Amino acid sequence: MPAQARSGPTLLPVTADDGRVGGSTLNDRILGRGWQRFQPIEAAFQRGEIDAAEWHARIGAVIGPAYLSATDPRAQSGFAGSPAEWESARRFLFAAIRRDGTFLDVGCANGLLLECAVRWLAEDGVTIEPFGLEILPELAALARQRLPNWADRIIIGNALDWMPHRRFDFVRTGLEYVPAPLRPQLLAHLLEDVVAPGGRLIVGAHSEPAGSPPDLQSEVSDWGFTVAGAAEIPHTKDYRVVRRAFWLDKPL
Ligand SMILES: C[S@@+](CC[C@H](N)C(=O)[O-])C[C@H]1O[C@@H](n2cnc3c(N)ncnc32)[C@H](O)[C@@H]1O
Repeated sequence: MPAQARSGPTLLPVTADDGRVGGSTLNDRILGRGWQRFQPIEAAFQRGEIDAAEWHARIGAVIGPAYLSATDPRAQSGFAGSPAEWESARRFLFAAIRRDGTFLDVGCANGLLLECAVRWLAEDGVTIEPFGLEILPELAALARQRLPNWADRIIIGNALDWMPHRRFDFVRTGLEYVPAPLRPQLLAHLLEDVVAPGGRLIVGAHSEPAGSPPDLQSEVSDWGFTVAGAAEIPHTKDYRVVRRAFWLDKPL
């Protein structure tokens, strides 16, 4: 049984350094844009006022319309920035994939990361078969429309309890996709039921203060998971921040 995740939303202390760099505060960078809308939802869950289904419904009611009204494919995946910034922010994740195999993007939104992963890895001589899991049907529909050749590989489901018919060599997820106390359960489920034997579960990308100890990775270790590797890249627009990822291996 995995250990409990830390409870309570984390607010960074407001310091003299909490001004705007590249248009965003440090809290925007670390907690994600729109954190002011998400934290009351997390707090309501942790007070026991709403259950996980309502947590997902409320988060989805924020994310869905925002992504669907976006006019560029990166914003339809929740990313604000140029194509070059997107590539910097996501390509480093694929340091975790050094051989051919199947790849599942948990929370695939409009499918942009799937497309890019195939192309970036092909440039490195690695062939992956892409699959996407998405909790919001309207975003899954957008991904299927954008990527008709892979339409049957875009699946609607909640990563926390989705039971696939097959397993995947490489699975990427974010921990923010479930209420904080359920994060150990999400990792345990994905490793047990979604990642193939000999496969890898990649967590990221998330932002943390530059030069800081890898906080999320340490928390995951404290839950009892063994971290097999990690990668980090400077934020292209904010010297205070790095983007990080780490991965867990499933034995054969
Ligand atoms: C920020 S986007 C990520 C897009 C892309 N995968 C990337 O890494 O840039 C997060 C997506 O995850 C989806 N999502 C959130 N919680 C989820 C869950 N529990 N199961 C499946 N998808 C989820 C959201 O609806 C959203 O489309």
